Amino acid sequence: MIDSNPIIKDIFGRPLRDLRVSVTDRCNFRCPYCMPAEIYGERYQFLPREEILSFEEIARLTNVFVGLGTKKIRLTGGEPLVRTGVDELISLLTRIDGVEDLTLTTNGYLLEDQAMGLKQAGLQRITVSLDSLNDQVFGVMNGRGFKVDRVIKGIERSIEVGLTPIKVNAVVQKGINDHTVIDMLRHFRGTGVIVRFIEYMDVGNLNGWKMEEVLPSKELVEIINAELPIEPVGKNYLGEVADRYRYRDGSGEIGFISSVTETFCQNCTRARISTDGKLFTCLFGESGFDLRGPIRDGYSDEQIRELITSVWNKRDDRYSEIRASITDQARRKVEMYQIGG
Ligand code: GTP
Ligand code: 5AD
Ligand code: SF4
Ligand code: SF4
Repeated sequence: MIDSNPIIKDIFGRPLRDLRVSVTDRCNFRCPYCMPAEIYGERYQFLPREEILSFEEIARLTNVFVGLGTKKIRLTGGEPLVRTGVDELISLLTRIDGVEDLTLTTNGYLLEDQAMGLKQAGLQRITVSLDSLNDQVFGVMNGRGFKVDRVIKGIERSIEVGLTPIKVNAVVQKGINDHTVIDMLRHFRGTGVIVRFIEYMDVGNLNGWKMEEVLPSKELVEIINAELPIEPVGKNYLGEVADRYRYRDGSGEIGFISSVTETFCQNCTRARISTDGKLFTCLFGESGFDLRGPIRDGYSDEQIRELITSVWNKRDDRYSEIRASITDQARRKVEMYQIGG
């Protein structure tokens, strides 16, 4: 397995290695596969401030997670850069001993202005979600008609300030953006930016997911290989979600995240904390375990540690592996923007 002697492990022996923290449920985009505009309109009630974990509360929880073996922290949203002062949170997190990888996933729209501040606060690298370089396709996929240029500037600025290696995550939806993947690769080839294609997933309850809209990575690899020859490379670490490939001409690396057709639950060491402080042990969880209440009720770090341990010890999630056998379509899953993907 992944680690012969972890501090804590779940039912399948998986340690708790990564923590993904959603710092806001708000977003400036309305990607139809995540926050469809017709549902998340002007009047939609996002969480009120008092229900959101404060930076101090996030830092405190992170410290307890690190004590349980967590080494990798990723800040997510919604869109993390719409929360004021994320750089202050990053500064707090850099003071925790034992964090080996501190990163953030953003849609890049506010990145150009914030990249330098994030770097100065101690962020190590950044991942930008960008589904297409075609303005029209991108405009549909961000649900707001926003143009690509601003995100590209954010990425360029991030390279300048050294938030590297930069990864670009593109969700591929058959019939929507699959015809634009080669353009995207041509743009980033040779820049050091690692483009990764994610299979469209059935997260949440609102995106009307259909298997027909998934382009299996195997097919995508063939499409790409015919234009830009690539070959597989081994994983960087056990449990890495992306299958890595490199261009045969040496111009860089790309990746495929095949969460639907080639599942990776076996090595899943990820915990997620929702904006309102619930612990989710799977991206497809139905409900989370409240940690905000105990923190605000004066629990000690040791008591919080025991709560997390008891949840993790009981963890038996492997949704992607059993997806096909789940017949209960009414199952309520957490929405992606509440736990950040
Ligand atoms: P690196 O640390 O750079 O390797 O990133 P990562 O792949 O761990 O994280 P990232 O946020 O870039 O993940 C990319 C996407 O993969 C996410 O947005 C999800 O769509 C998907 N993904 C990540 N983790 C999981 C997971 O545990 N389960 C499933 N089903 N999908 C996941
Ligand atoms: N399927 C796959 N990826 C998704 N993301 C959001 N919704 C989905 C989905 N239904 C991705 C975003 C971003 C990350 C946070 O999650 O595009 O890269
Ligand atoms: Fe916002 Fe990301 Fe969801 Fe798109 S996928 S609506 S950018 S949180
Ligand atoms: Fe982990 Fe759940 Fe994703 Fe499987 S489906 S890899 S258990 S988050």
